[in-house]
Amino acid sequence: MNRIAVFASGRGSNFQTIVHRIEDGYLPARVAILVSDRPTAGAIAFAEGRDIPVAVVRPADYASPEQFGAALLAALAPHDCRLLVLAGYLKKIPDPVVAAYANRIVNIHPALLPAFGGKGMYGMNVHRAVWASGARVSGVTVHLVNTVYDAGPIVLQVPVDITDCDGPESVAERVLAHEHDAFPRALKALLDSDYRVEGNRVLFGRSIHDPH
Ligand code: GRF
Repeated sequence: MNRIAVFASGRGSNFQTIVHRIEDGYLPARVAILVSDRPTAGAIAFAEGRDIPVAVVRPADYASPEQFGAALLAALAPHDCRLLVLAGYLKKIPDPVVAAYANRIVNIHPALLPAFGGKGMYGMNVHRAVWASGARVSGVTVHLVNTVYDAGPIVLQVPVDITDCDGPESVAERVLAHEHDAFPRALKALLDSDYRVEGNRVLFGRSIHDPH
């Protein structure tokens, strides 16, 4: 069984969706551990309700990103995870963790990268920037994580028409609904295929756009 670690800083709706898609048999995986940087994260309560082990690793408790990274690696080590899944995780993954899980860390971003990405571009900051730009289309990007914010190889993208939205909040709501479909699809593609990365492109053994 594919063991995965999920990282979440907030309410965890993407985490909950992943767990539900595991439970309905769509995702061939098991959540071995939930990692959070915030003891108050809503995702923790959900994990505890499912008897999923939880590790709270707070960057402020460590003197450097390297020591924070070592603490994350120590929390992950017993679980032998195939993927690290960032489901609304607001901290940058330290370089030693990126190196230890090369091309096996997956993040979801609520816009069409490389647009509207980078340091500081998370949550409502993204949707406010999209709205202010006048864009008629936003979307979801699932990508592999490297050492540069939001710049890793893209696994899957879904465009979202926001023409009839009335502000950043309605953009966020519509995009989030599409995230809950896109993230499990992207994770299934990664778990079901021997993907590889060439340059900044993810190559799959077969199309991930096949019907479910
Ligand atoms: C999502 O919009 C995701 O794209 C971004 O953070 C948000 C997390 O939401 N990375 P949730 O905690 O999964 O509900």
